[in-house]
Amino acid sequence: MPKVAPSILSADFTKLEKEIETVQNAEYLHFDVMDGIFVENISFGFPVLEAVRKVTDMTLDVHLMIQSPARYVARFAKSGGDIITFHTEAETDENTKKAIDELHSLGKKAGLTIKPNTKPEVLLPYIDALDLILVMTVEPGFGGQKFKSDMLEKITYLKNIIDSRNLNCEIEVDGGINAETAKQCVDAGASVLVAGEYIFRAADRTENIANLQKL
Ligand code: DX5
Ligand code: ZN
Repeated sequence: MPKVAPSILSADFTKLEKEIETVQNAEYLHFDVMDGIFVENISFGFPVLEAVRKVTDMTLDVHLMIQSPARYVARFAKSGGDIITFHTEAETDENTKKAIDELHSLGKKAGLTIKPNTKPEVLLPYIDALDLILVMTVEPGFGGQKFKSDMLEKITYLKNIIDSRNLNCEIEVDGGINAETAKQCVDAGASVLVAGEYIFRAADRTENIANLQKL
């Protein structure tokens, strides 16, 4: 059964605590941090994460779309993140390794993610140490975009490596996920499904989360 991670980027921020209560049947809560440099958009950061941490026990799945993320991973961990995922494109090799180790020493899970134009091979030097790989299925920056189906082969490629090395690393997908695109991702090997619009714009959020969990 895949895990589901509603992305609060699509929530109504005037009532965030109530919004989080409506997605309680999901496994993770996805928290998108954007700095206006690594991606075009700016979202939210530490104070909002601390506030979210106070009102929920859900696993907080933090997706950092920021330049030079190694500087900030410890602070996101201390602000309440449980899984901290950052972009390989935004950091040096040396800092990437250090940040993964730092997260583990803080008792947190470490994830790496790649944009649509980045080859999955760049993850291989780190894969043994990772708890999660996020395959972006849209260009990061905004919710509500169309799923890029050519990302499916990256999932298959990474799943084969994870299985052949017997690693304990989840594959997550993010961007344009709905029941149909999620099915393709799960069939290819994804086990964590991020969804913004599909969940927060649903008539029945609980039901849409369950639709994804059933895949
Ligand atoms: C996009 C973010 C996503 C976004 C997904 O850069 O990383 O998490 O919220 O939204 P949907 O599911 O609407 O594409
Ligand atoms: Zn995200």
